[in-house]
Amino acid sequence: MSVHVQNTRMTTTRLRQMKQQGEKIAMLTSYDFTLTTLLDEAGIDMILVGDSASNVVCGNSYTLPITVDEMIFLARGVVRAAKHCLVVLDMPFGSYQVSEEDAVRNAVRMMKESGADALKLEGGEEILPVIRHLVRAGIPVMGHLGLTPQSVNQLGGYGLRAKEAVEADKLLRDAQLLDGAGCFAIVLEKIPAHLAEDVTKLVSCPTIGIGAGNMTDGQVLVLHDMLGLNQGFKPKFLRHFAELGDAVKGAVGQYVQAVKQSSFPNSSEAY
Ligand code: KIV
Repeated sequence: MSVHVQNTRMTTTRLRQMKQQGEKIAMLTSYDFTLTTLLDEAGIDMILVGDSASNVVCGNSYTLPITVDEMIFLARGVVRAAKHCLVVLDMPFGSYQVSEEDAVRNAVRMMKESGADALKLEGGEEILPVIRHLVRAGIPVMGHLGLTPQSVNQLGGYGLRAKEAVEADKLLRDAQLLDGAGCFAIVLEKIPAHLAEDVTKLVSCPTIGIGAGNMTDGQVLVLHDMLGLNQGFKPKFLRHFAELGDAVKGAVGQYVQAVKQSSFPNSSEAY
């Protein structure tokens, strides 16, 4: 008896087809096994193990402190849970800026030890040689332009990028260079919607927007932000698709009360 097993795993080729067919790509960040299982079962196309873990998991104010070892540790749990979606792992600050050789060594280690499908790097023309090396080594690379949080100290904050013509022109040029170097997709963060639309029309690979309007090929959000877990953070581009912060506080409050009142566990919850 022959059994036909359909391969339903997302691939970079399929993502390109989705762009060509006008089918939107849904991406979220995730940093652990349990939540990734839910995201995967809910039909997410791509998961980013983002260096935003530095903020939402580790409690740092910036993405800069997180290390290669910490990113690999988080990605392993995500990869174990991801049955259908493509898992992209962020290369953290310092892991690809020192030299091309060092970048390739870190990238190969991150792919081998995490089992991720692809890596993401922030920047344009400045990191083009590194991207070319990684693509040549067989690693699928996602680009990231616009607001690039690893450069926050240089950018001077997390404001909207590429409002002026000079920066917008550079971003368009960078996007073409990344596309030409073989990036399978490009994240566009916090740029005007009309510019994101121009980039999306210009490049052959899919664009994934965050705070970049509705004309990109897909969207990405930080999971803790869109679930309402990160309660103090509500920029204009963010939609809360749930209020889990309130739900968690409510549930924990009830648990505390039940323990204090000795109503938990009850007789049916005991052996
Ligand atoms: O680290 C991250 O979560 C990201 C997304 C905001 C795109 O880079």
